[in-house]
Amino acid sequence: MTPWRSRCEQALRAQSRADAIRFWRVSHATDEGERPVFDYRFEHTLAAVKIARWLAPQVGADVDVVECAAWLHDCRKILNDPRTKDHHAQEASDAVEAILEGTDFPPAKIPAVRHAIEHHVGLKLTRRLEPVETACLWDSDKLSKLGAASLVHFNCIAGGFRPVETADILAKGLHWIGLARTITESMNTLPGQEEARRRLAFLETYYERLRREWSDPMEPATP
Ligand SMILES: [Fe+2]
Ligand SMILES: [Fe+2]
Repeated sequence: MTPWRSRCEQALRAQSRADAIRFWRVSHATDEGERPVFDYRFEHTLAAVKIARWLAPQVGADVDVVECAAWLHDCRKILNDPRTKDHHAQEASDAVEAILEGTDFPPAKIPAVRHAIEHHVGLKLTRRLEPVETACLWDSDKLSKLGAASLVHFNCIAGGFRPVETADILAKGLHWIGLARTITESMNTLPGQEEARRRLAFLETYYERLRREWSDPMEPATP
């Protein structure tokens, strides 16, 4: 039987790499074959998986369910989707069973994976998600959009949408801080909330420093 983690990683990689090459309209020939300039979907997902593995055991969630949901939550999302309605959560949920077929993932846990995936969207929550596995996926996905790795991801993908300059990155970052505060307030779990606050504080410091450095005339930086 195929191990479910490698099947999830393979399924996601195949989709995200092909989509990223289409999006960038350019690729690099490597020993591993054709690779895109930056595979945003895979990088974001890997960050969410790492967070899911850290978060789930702390709050008594089923680690397999949360990690599997993290691997597959965006597996049908495409870059610059021309469709006006976004159905990627439902489409990813619909794909779960076929991806996990022939793997050692317990079939009884598939409904919980699908539920978590179907409820992972949106940057704001007005009530806590249930059950805890669904709450954990939301927190892991959103935490991956805050903090140091998120800066790498956002900045590497930005030029694929339009030409960018440092001033654009700064303006977008300052706008994102407002959304990041909403995300932080919406966190479902206590460890998620605490980590979101730490990541938000880092982002605020980073963008404030960038703003100061890039303003004209440059204000003196505090140590
Ligand atoms: Fe998503
Ligand atoms: Fe995501």
